[in-house]
Amino acid sequence: MSALCKLDGVTVLYGGVRALSDLSLCVPEGSVVALLGANGAGKSTTLRAISGLVRLETGRVIFDGSRLDGLAPHLIARAGVLHVPEGRGIFPSLTVRENLEMVSFTRSGTANPVEAGVEIFPALGRRLGQAAGSLSGGEQQMLSLSRAFIASPRLLMVDEISMGLAPIIVAELFGALRSMASAGTSVLLVEQYVNAALELADYVYLLDKGRLVEVAEPGELRREGLLRAYLGQEATNMEVSAR
Ligand SMILES: Nc1ncnc2c1ncn2[C@@H]1O[C@H](COP(=O)(O)OP(=O)(O)O)[C@@H](O)[C@H]1O
Ligand SMILES: [Mg+2]
Repeated sequence: MSALCKLDGVTVLYGGVRALSDLSLCVPEGSVVALLGANGAGKSTTLRAISGLVRLETGRVIFDGSRLDGLAPHLIARAGVLHVPEGRGIFPSLTVRENLEMVSFTRSGTANPVEAGVEIFPALGRRLGQAAGSLSGGEQQMLSLSRAFIASPRLLMVDEISMGLAPIIVAELFGALRSMASAGTSVLLVEQYVNAALELADYVYLLDKGRLVEVAEPGELRREGLLRAYLGQEATNMEVSAR
């Protein structure tokens, strides 16, 4: 499989503080890569390094054979990278309909972005005229994922979309991620529901204090007890029924 996105020796500093140290990572075309690690491990910073929201101290980001680092975020987005950030990636004062309509790069053949967005999460259909900020937390995440679906990125990066949501909602969000992944979208996933992430992922990168400690397929990680060592008992026991 060819690499869609590659980080090569990436170091990121915030002030003098090192958030990523010499990180190399590969998202093969058409795969789901999960990025796991404790709080502060550097997961969000890794996504920001790819989408151009932080400056690299060292290293490169290669996307589809070209360098992305140093480009402005809107040019990186235009290349096909969509970052659903921590929190809610929506415009709260606009209606649900407006949030869907303003997705700038629509899936080829999508005549009607609103219809396409409602297709993936029918619950949004009943909320089209409502301000997005007045939706429940779960509905806001459905809206941010359906915007991602309409945009049809080549690389979808999702940061802790399940934060603070009930397991049944998380299962629904993961169902949508699974269908985007099986339609061929490459996904880089940061997630606290480790088991749900492992179920979806082809490869797992485990970070600790800004450094890569392991790259493996999900089965290997489970066997070797590495997750428990780096993430703790609680994280590895969190369950959602993602089917
Ligand atoms: N804007 C910021 N300014 C200063 N330090 C930051 C900032 N964002 C993150 N950090 C620090 O960088 C490290 C990595 O953070 P982050 O990438 O958010 O980790 P994670 O997403 O894995 O929890 C942490 O030590 C965090 O405190
Ligand atoms: Mg984070």
